[in-house]
Amino acid sequence: MKILVTGGTGYIGSHTCVELLNEGYEVVIIDNLYNSKIETVDYIEKITGKKVKFYKDDCCDKEALRKIFKENKIDAVIHFAGYKAVGESVKLPLNYYHNNLGSAIILCEVMKEFNCKNIIFSSSATVYGNSKRVPFKETYKLSTTNPYGTTKMFIERILTDLHISDEDWNVVLLRYFNPIGAHPSGLIGEDPNGIPNNLMPYVVKVATGELECLSIFGNDYPTKDGTGVRDYIHVVDLAVGHVKALEKIQKDNGLFIYNLGTGEGYSVLDIVNTFERVNKVKVNHKFAPRRKGDIATCLADPSKAEKELNFKATRTLEEMCRDAYNYAVKNR
Ligand code: WQD
Repeated sequence: MKILVTGGTGYIGSHTCVELLNEGYEVVIIDNLYNSKIETVDYIEKITGKKVKFYKDDCCDKEALRKIFKENKIDAVIHFAGYKAVGESVKLPLNYYHNNLGSAIILCEVMKEFNCKNIIFSSSATVYGNSKRVPFKETYKLSTTNPYGTTKMFIERILTDLHISDEDWNVVLLRYFNPIGAHPSGLIGEDPNGIPNNLMPYVVKVATGELECLSIFGNDYPTKDGTGVRDYIHVVDLAVGHVKALEKIQKDNGLFIYNLGTGEGYSVLDIVNTFERVNKVKVNHKFAPRRKGDIATCLADPSKAEKELNFKATRTLEEMCRDAYNYAVKNR
């Protein structure tokens, strides 16, 4: 089977391409390199020993997408491409709605033209909003607190309506919790431009001396040590979850929604302490006021994916911390 991976040179996209190739799928990547590097294509090929077809194009470009579908018989699409910075989305909502919704709609229109009706969508736990009922189940009401999260919720709705309009569309919505870590080879990993918004890339940059000190946003949350608790999942486990989702729509037709998480919560201090212990480095840190929009605890109930996809994350927090640092050291 030939899979089109949009955003395939990105953090989660590149790790998913590796797992797809390892499983014997053919992979075609479309990526505009807005938030990734062309070298990642070589690294994917080096890790797997397999070739990848790469198109440097934008998913908003209908003609470019048509060309890909004309040149390749695409059996399914895994859609990662999109802007993903929560804070930036609050400042630039129009950019986020135009780019994320526009590219998803154009992609589905071209897929329909070429009678390709299998799509796996990279959604996010952010669609659960500030729900106080943890762990989160797929049946929970959705609510969002920022334009980025709202684009995810809207694209879920678009794909749901598409399936309702034509049941030949097979749709899997994957809601990621907090992906961290990197491929153990150290060739691919998370490499955000500028000052990272997310915890792990910030911790890594403090550990390597690129940044001075980690600010821990709030130590007065109702959690075991007062700092925020999240469901961290190794990015390679997350990538495996996409292969499982692809297997699912080869067996069953329909619309499916799954949390991809571990069900295990770790606090910010857990991350800092584990990272220091595993990598034998110091991570300078201080407590700072809470970050607007943060919730105390965000945790997945992973049981549905376990039952229906036979998916269970296996990599430990130690491995996540070790692999994240290993990637940074190798790519300093
Ligand atoms: C984790 C914890 C912070 C940075 C976000 C998006 C979500 C998804 C994953 C895309 C929190 C604390 C963080 C720092 C800190 N992205 N923190 N100092 O906010 O759970 O989720 O990324 O889908 O949509 O919302 O992840 O890594 O930003 O924060 O103390 O410098 O670390 O308060 O408790 P978050 P995060």
